[in-house]
Amino acid sequence: MAPSEPNAIPFRAKGEIPQFKEEKEGWEGYIEWEKYPEKKKQVEALLKQYDFPDPPEFQMVPLPKTNPVLTGERWKQYHSAIGLDHIVDESWRVVQNEKSADMTHVLQFPYNGEAPGDRLIKTEITPNKDHFVRNHGGVPSISADAYTLDITGLVKNPTTLTLAQLQDETLFPRQTNTVTIQCSGTRRIEQIHSYPGDGDELINAPWGEGAISTARWTGVSLKKVIKHCGGLLSPADNLEFFGADTYFKKGQVYNYAVSVPWRKVQANEVLLAWEMNGEPLPRIHGYPLRVVVFGYIGARSVKWLYEVRAIKGPSEAPVQKKEYLYYTPQVGKQNALYSNGFSIQDMPVSSAIISPVTMDQVVHQGRVKVKGWAYSGGGHWPVRVEVSGDGGSIWYEVPYENMSTKYYYAWRLWEVDLPVDAEGWLELCVRTWDNAMNTQPTYVRSAWNWDLHVTSSAHRIKVYSINTSKPATAARMKQLEAAGLSIYPITRPLKIELESDEDYDREMAARGGRDPLE
Ligand code: MTE
Repeated sequence: MAPSEPNAIPFRAKGEIPQFKEEKEGWEGYIEWEKYPEKKKQVEALLKQYDFPDPPEFQMVPLPKTNPVLTGERWKQYHSAIGLDHIVDESWRVVQNEKSADMTHVLQFPYNGEAPGDRLIKTEITPNKDHFVRNHGGVPSISADAYTLDITGLVKNPTTLTLAQLQDETLFPRQTNTVTIQCSGTRRIEQIHSYPGDGDELINAPWGEGAISTARWTGVSLKKVIKHCGGLLSPADNLEFFGADTYFKKGQVYNYAVSVPWRKVQANEVLLAWEMNGEPLPRIHGYPLRVVVFGYIGARSVKWLYEVRAIKGPSEAPVQKKEYLYYTPQVGKQNALYSNGFSIQDMPVSSAIISPVTMDQVVHQGRVKVKGWAYSGGGHWPVRVEVSGDGGSIWYEVPYENMSTKYYYAWRLWEVDLPVDAEGWLELCVRTWDNAMNTQPTYVRSAWNWDLHVTSSAHRIKVYSINTSKPATAARMKQLEAAGLSIYPITRPLKIELESDEDYDREMAARGGRDPLE
């Protein structure tokens, strides 16, 4: 077994590294694999020669406190083995150019990153530089002038469209929609901390609460584009999307590909977008054109889209057929089959507390400000958010005026001044109800699954409550202030006496002493 990170052995080429031709001029970093089975076989044979590093163990042991948290050595080496080193370096440059400097780089390559919580929930529309990123490969560089989209397969008139044609409003009406994209890995870290599962560092990247963001996407409805091509031919019932990045799975190479059912497209819930919040798509988010599927798992919103193919049944590509599957809790490494997990499409209702954060010690006067996000997929929207200060016995409703705008396909940000009487360690939690009366499972364990997807259980955090409306606490805070000391962190021992000897004697006398009379 090859050593894993951080002891991975650096890549050493065996023989000459092949140079695979880029498919089209103006499309740097796009190697077409799907149309060339021979080329795929060549890569399979090449990859077999190497003993690539194992994935790092990040579930049975604490996560590194580094940023990047994980580096993806194995994935970098796959790319090195087929002459795509430059894509690894270029992708990291794009991260530095396009994303906020303080992103948490959950995985350096393929890049997966989320913004710090306070900025994530600052505005209902996430600034582009703070929008989370999830990649399965490198970031291609595609020129808008050279860009074309092929509509192929079971369509009446297979067509190739330029970006200019897609943007021509005499051909296609333009639309803008506010849509939340959520990765099914959001909040995975809670499952990992409770019960580890499959440990592939890319497939199961250790996300916090930030693999979800909202943008205003501008483009054309795919339904109109299919209509422009004369409609579908029988028996087509799914549309497969191909992205220009390179993906590896169990020793084979692919382009990123997934599919959505035609009925999702017919509902005008699939957008081909070139603009994100009024700006051209950033490269890392799919420039020049991506798919945005409303209310579905983010995996279907293919970036760097180069082909839409009408097919019968869902895509056979690995990301569709072999990943993003939801298993029951008794299914795992010992018995999982691709066929016995169900394919995640609509995202369930979920929410998260973003402030305070777990382990915070909160000084308050009987109310604690709690803030977060709430989201439901499949065209549902959060109607009621409830927060509890006691682990879920008593729930307080977030007042509707403290919830951001309602959209069919986007999250709502919320905040509440939660009544908190108790002191000491408390478990704060949130659950959301959507318009179909769906709510969240109670505990992580209630919805644990081996691939660690869709952590939708009530989000729970531990905070230490210091309630200054209590006379004893108010007095202690005054004492600390007078002595120039801080209550934070509570673990640092108090430098002052808890009580004077006189007060102690008086108290003890009032209590009848420590011991019984007889
Ligand atoms: N498209 C391509 N071509 N390659 C990818 O790796 N990742 C998918 C999807 N589209 C992916 C892709 C996944 S899993 C998610 S959650 C979303 O993109 C994330 O979109 P974002 O990076 O713009 O936030």
